[in-house]
Amino acid sequence: MELQQLGAWVLDELPAWNRAILSGEASAESFNAVIRENVLPGLPDPARLDPSEARRQVVHLGLIGASTARHYQERMPDGKANPERAFDGFAAGTEELPFLTYFAALTDRTGTGHCHRDSYASLVRWNVGTVEVRLDGRPLAVLPGEFDDGRVRSYTGTGGEERFFVLVKRSEALELAVNTLLEPLADGDTRLDGPDVVTRVRLATGLLDALRQVFVDFAAQPPERSMPADHFMDVFRQFAVHWSPGDVPPSGALDPEALKRDFLLGIDIENYDQHVRRLFPALLDDERAALDRLMAQPTLPERLLASCATDAGRLATAGPADLRRLLRDNPTLQDWYRLLTAHARAAGAHLMLSKRFLFKPQYQRDLAGVGDQVLVSNRAGTTGMTESFLERLTRARRNHPLAPLRRVLTSGTPDDEPLDTVPSDMSPAGSVAVALVA
Ligand code: HEM
Repeated sequence: MELQQLGAWVLDELPAWNRAILSGEASAESFNAVIRENVLPGLPDPARLDPSEARRQVVHLGLIGASTARHYQERMPDGKANPERAFDGFAAGTEELPFLTYFAALTDRTGTGHCHRDSYASLVRWNVGTVEVRLDGRPLAVLPGEFDDGRVRSYTGTGGEERFFVLVKRSEALELAVNTLLEPLADGDTRLDGPDVVTRVRLATGLLDALRQVFVDFAAQPPERSMPADHFMDVFRQFAVHWSPGDVPPSGALDPEALKRDFLLGIDIENYDQHVRRLFPALLDDERAALDRLMAQPTLPERLLASCATDAGRLATAGPADLRRLLRDNPTLQDWYRLLTAHARAAGAHLMLSKRFLFKPQYQRDLAGVGDQVLVSNRAGTTGMTESFLERLTRARRNHPLAPLRRVLTSGTPDDEPLDTVPSDMSPAGSVAVALVA
């Protein structure tokens, strides 16, 4: 198949095949025959593609590979144990390379260090069009996509899947804008209390409020304007199967801007860096490099407290009078406190999404004795994070080093607020716009 034909096939035919197989109207064998006989032969040698073309083909063949792998594992009793057998007999391109060899060559050609399976980057960042974050019309950050057709490729062509991918991409763009403001401050020579810094910190706080609002708005929509939880659990997530044992399937947990923010702002979770390093195979080269850099540096709150001649331990045991004195002498601490609070609130809103669309419905299924999905469990995320781990992460973000200031600042989050509620006293940053521009 020619490249352009492949693009049209993935947009129009692949979702129809997946829907038909899942409803029992078509067999996975007939789907495989079409892939083997019509789709894979004639694909270009990856070495002839430019990096951008290669990235688009990784999106296309990633969706095809995930579909093939899912249907194989669903119908073969030992499919989960031998996922790569899904691709037996698949030969791609004029040189008839085994599918996984061809796919690996394609990913290498992207020049990004992309793993040899589909990924967060291919499904979200490259698939969805370019997203721009603007403040009062002024661009703050641009998260490029690899397509400019305004379409979103998905497994079954349903609005819910498309809206989910767009939600994640818009969120990542907002997070990129936050990190673009904060990362320059991570340079050890920068003072963290100057007027320029305060402007950056306040803007970043507004952007995190906007991120939280994006999460809350998604949850507030009726299922037909967001995504039905059953579809998320039984259809969408079941495409995130392994392609080889031990590989890292696509997950929101691979959102690199969220990971960077945790290292910029700090998170009190033991071995968090090791947890993140386990995800490294599914990230891109520049993402791994940025995280490596940030992991090796002190966090911004650590440096800030040091510049105020104190530290997290002393703040935790300080009485109200000392805290007030500290704030009087270092007024910018309030701005940093608000930033860390906004970060924690965004995490709380994300936790609410994970409960709403996954953990609570699965709990109901367990109560009703319905059980779990066999391929991708709905009792945990695709990289294995449980509800209690997500709660721990949220709690750790809330218990940030400046949290003791809550006792003397009135606008803080109450300590006893349940983790999955979304406080309504935050004003959305009305001047922030997050738009798909391609
Ligand atoms: C309906 C929407 C969403 C649901 C149901 C959801 C669910 C989940 C689940 C189940 C996990 C655990 C993942 C694993 O084990 O690999 C997770 C983790 C994560 N998701 Fe989402 N998610 C949603 C939206 C988003 C969005 C829009 C983003 C932002 C780009 C995002 C970013 C993350 C991050 C960074 C993690 C790692 C955990 C953390 O740092 O707190 N998610 N999500």
